[in-house]
Amino acid sequence: MIGVRASHAGARARPSVFPIRYNAAHHAGAPALAMVTIYHSPTLYRLTTRIGYGPDYAARYTLIADVIRAPGDVLELCCGDLALHRHLEARGLLKSYIGLEHSGAMLKLARRHGVDVRAFDVRSGDPVPTADTVIMQASLYQFHDIADTLLPRLYAAARRLLVIAEPVRNLSQSRRRSVRWLARALTRTADGRVHVFRYTEGTLLALYDHCKIPVSRLDRTPSRYELVVSSLKAPSATADVEAGRRSVTDSHTGVGRSPR
Ligand SMILES: C[S@@+](CC[C@H](N)C(=O)[O-])C[C@H]1O[C@@H](n2cnc3c(N)ncnc32)[C@H](O)[C@@H]1O
Repeated sequence: MIGVRASHAGARARPSVFPIRYNAAHHAGAPALAMVTIYHSPTLYRLTTRIGYGPDYAARYTLIADVIRAPGDVLELCCGDLALHRHLEARGLLKSYIGLEHSGAMLKLARRHGVDVRAFDVRSGDPVPTADTVIMQASLYQFHDIADTLLPRLYAAARRLLVIAEPVRNLSQSRRRSVRWLARALTRTADGRVHVFRYTEGTLLALYDHCKIPVSRLDRTPSRYELVVSSLKAPSATADVEAGRRSVTDSHTGVGRSPR
C-alpha cells in the first residue's frame, strides 16, 4: 500500500508507506494537514505494535488473560486490531465479546472477521454497555483530559472486573529519533492528534485514588512498557478464598495496595 504523503500547500510530495488521509479535524491552531495515521491500516498497526513493544508484545495479552481467568462477557473499548480478542478467544475466555472503536478501518476489519465491534466515540459520553469484564488497553492516555469521569464510567460498566492496561514508558520523548518516530506513529489518531501524554505508575494510581476506584492487582509487562491495573468488584467464589489470603497482588514487585 504505497501512497503519497501530502504536506502543506506547495510542499513536495514524497512517497510514503502510509495511506493518504486528509482530515478536517486538526489541532487547535494547526493547519489542515494530510494526517498520517497507522489506525487506517490494521496490518500496519499490528506491525508497528509488534516492533514498538518488542519482547513485551506477547506479555501484554497474556497478563490480561491471566487476570480474567474464567470465561465471561467481555467489553473492550478501543479494541484496535483485535489482537486481544484473538488471544482471549484462543484461551477460551470469551462467552461473549463486544468491542467499541472509532476507527473505520478497525471496524471494517472486525466486520470481515465476524467480530461484534461497534462504532463508538469514547468522548461522546454515550452510555457504556455493561459486561462481566471491561477492558481498555493502551488507550486511556488518549483521554487523560476526561479520565476522571471516564474511569468511573468504565468501572460502573464492569459487573465483575475492570482492567486498564497503560503504557507507562514514554517513548515518544526518547532521545533516539527512530524510537520517537515509532512511538509517535503508534499514538497519532485519525483526527491527527499525536498523544504524547503518558501516565507514570504514580500518576495512574493517583487517578484511581482520586476516582475512589479500588486497585486489586498490579502487573507489569517484563520490560515495564505496560502496567495492568485490575479492579475486582464482585469476586468469584475462588477469588473470595484467595482474597482472604492476600488482599492485593503485585506480580512483579510484591508491592501491594489495599482495596478500599
Ligand atoms: C493505541 S491504540 C490501542 C489499540 C489496542 N487496544 C491495543 O492495545 O493495541 C488506541 C485505539 O483507540 C482508538 N480510539 C481513538 N480515539 C477513540 C475514540 N474517541 N473513541 C473510540 N476509540 C478511539 C483508536 O482507533 C485505536 O484503535
